[in-house]
This record gives sequence, C-alpha cells and structure tokens, in this order.
Amino acid sequence: MPKIVAANWKMNLRRGSASALAGRLARDGRACWLFPAFPHLDAVGAAIKGSQCKLGAQDVSPELDGAFTGDVSAEMLADLGCGMVLVGHSERRQGYGEDAARLLAKLRRAAQAGLAPLFCVGETLARRKAGKAEDTVREQLALLSKLAAVERGRLCAVAYEPVWAIGTGVNATAAEIAPMHALVRAELDKLGLAKQPILYGGSVKPENAAELLALAEVNGLLVGGGSLEYDSLAAIDDAAKSAS
Ligand code: PGA
Repeated sequence: MPKIVAANWKMNLRRGSASALAGRLARDGRACWLFPAFPHLDAVGAAIKGSQCKLGAQDVSPELDGAFTGDVSAEMLADLGCGMVLVGHSERRQGYGEDAARLLAKLRRAAQAGLAPLFCVGETLARRKAGKAEDTVREQLALLSKLAAVERGRLCAVAYEPVWAIGTGVNATAAEIAPMHALVRAELDKLGLAKQPILYGGSVKPENAAELLALAEVNGLLVGGGSLEYDSLAAIDDAAKSAS
C-alpha cells in the first residue's frame, strides 16, 4: 500500500500561497492529501484539479443546515469538491471542548454527505504519565462502533497523534508509536476496518519521516508545521515514496 502524506495546514497560509503550494505539489505528480483552511478550499481545489492530490477540510459542522453562525456543513464541503474531513483533532477536542457526542454527530454528518472522515486520536501527556495512553486511545476509537457499518466504512484513515507531540518538536519514539499503532490496527480490525490506513502525526519533519514510516503499521503521516513549505513537504513525500 503506498504510504500517505497528509498536510494539515491549520490556520496558516493565504489564498495565494496555499494555491501556489498545492499547484506545485500537483504539477510534480505528488499524491498528497491537503487540508487547507476553509477560505482556501476553493482555490486549492482548483490548483489540484486533475492531479493525484486530494482535498480535505479541517472541520465540519455536526448540523445539516440552518442557524449555526460560523459553521460549515458537510454538504457545503461536498459541494466544493472536498472529499475528506478531519474529525477529532486534539486542537478541536481540547480548544473547543468537542466531546464524544459532538464528534459522533460530525462523523455521521460527514459520512452521510459522502465525505471520508480522517479520525484523529491520541493521549495527553498527563494520560501517558498516568499509564493511561492505551486506554485513552481505545476509548476514543470505541466511538467508531456507534456508527452504522456503512458510515464507518467511509473513514479514509485514522491518525494517531499524541497530543504532547503536536507542534512541540518532540515526536514520539518508535517504542511509543509501534505498540499504539498495533493497538489501533487491532481495534480497527474488530470494527471491520482492516483496510483503513493508520497515520502517525506529531512533529513530523524531513529529518524523522523515514524512521517513522519504517515502523510497522505506520501507513502514512499527518503533518502540520512540516507541511507549510514546499521543500519540507516534498522531502517528507519523497521519504513516503521510498518507504512504499
Ligand atoms: P505538527 O502537527 O506536525 O505541527 O506537530 C500535526 C497535526 O496537528 O496534525
């Protein structure tokens, strides 16, 4: 299976820089999954049209339509040509208090609109220090059992992102990542999701990409800061190609 490189651009770049970066990746024949900010989706979509890159959004409303100021619905995203959406990213779980019920509603709404959710899980440093890292991830994944099988089957991937490794420059070690990816794989198997890739995320950079991609059950990478400049993202993508 080719290793996946997914770029979470978060609240960065501008319309011009996002579409220029996307266009260059597309022209180079790279097959990255790009998650730009909402206002850049249209321009990035146009820049990667007909290429191997794919477009995703960073968030989705749990509601269908209506009086939800500031929200963006799954139907709106699908209408823009967006095929995927991040759900459960720790910056939304923690910064916006997104609980399991809200995440479940988002997963359902996305799947029903034909979007493929990329579901993110990962423990905080406090949970890891308390010896509860695996329990946390198992509990987070249990949410997927509440989806109908057809909704669950729409997932494009699961990302394991230890919260303490996101944006900190400290990536998890092989000894921490490998058992967690094995656990995620076992849980996904039980849910009938044997084909869904498992990505690692958290301070991925060109210097550590090859080592991370060599680990068992690391089927790709979800990259934040390291995805904002062409040379860095291209080097990570090259590492993914060599590891595939
Ligand atoms: P980072 O972010 O690569 O900047 O740590 C990863 C993510 O939040 O998906």
